[in-house]
Amino acid sequence: MDIALAVIGGTGVYRLAALEDVEARQVDTPYGAPSGPLRIGRLGGTRIAFLARHGEGHALPPHRVNYRANLHALKQAGATRVLALNTVGGITDAYGPRVLACPDQLIDYTWGRESSFWDGEGEALHVDFGHPYSPMFRHKLLAAARVTGVRLVDGGCYGATQGPRLETSAEIARMRRDGCDLVGMTGMPEAALARELGLDYACLAIVANWAAGCGDAQEITLAEVLDNVAAASAGLPELVAELARG
Ligand code: HPA
Repeated sequence: MDIALAVIGGTGVYRLAALEDVEARQVDTPYGAPSGPLRIGRLGGTRIAFLARHGEGHALPPHRVNYRANLHALKQAGATRVLALNTVGGITDAYGPRVLACPDQLIDYTWGRESSFWDGEGEALHVDFGHPYSPMFRHKLLAAARVTGVRLVDGGCYGATQGPRLETSAEIARMRRDGCDLVGMTGMPEAALARELGLDYACLAIVANWAAGCGDAQEITLAEVLDNVAAASAGLPELVAELARG
């Protein structure tokens, strides 16, 4: 059976517990090893591949993730559609903690990451990136959310920062002026690499906290982040199963 969907899990989502008959596949790629094994299993009658972006023990910080190897490994396994789960901070009003969102735009503030499969040989890969997430696949994700009763905010701009530290309040204020609604550390170069490989890629952002200076909290804690991700993720298995079917 073909792989109907690949899912990349972010902070707080290290397994898809609902997967059945799971096979752990170690994959090597021309770009090195991915963050961990691909866990390929059955969910609601389809086959799904899951990869923990930060490694299963969360050993890899955002700037050390081998994004090229991760995307290439999923492509090698036969995936054509990739749902990226990204834990984020919320900047604008509609994106408070525990909100799930499907952004339609992004701004890249990262630097120094391997951001292309093009290594200087052959024809340069100037892929179109006007719509960084696959419009068709976003549409399917939003439809699957409606069917399963999962509340998902349609649209928004994801600002990808370098990390691993969180942002200053001034940086977030600038991002707000730039038009960002969400801030996370892993959205890029992942989305662009997926485009280079011709994969249909969409982001399901899980808001874990108000970004610096946006809420009342004096400090953003890991406990708060993990607690909110767990609470917001309750409907994910059903949503993923429905998306994989569609
Ligand atoms: N900033 C950047 N990345 C994040 C945040 C944040 O506030 N919360 C979760 N991931």
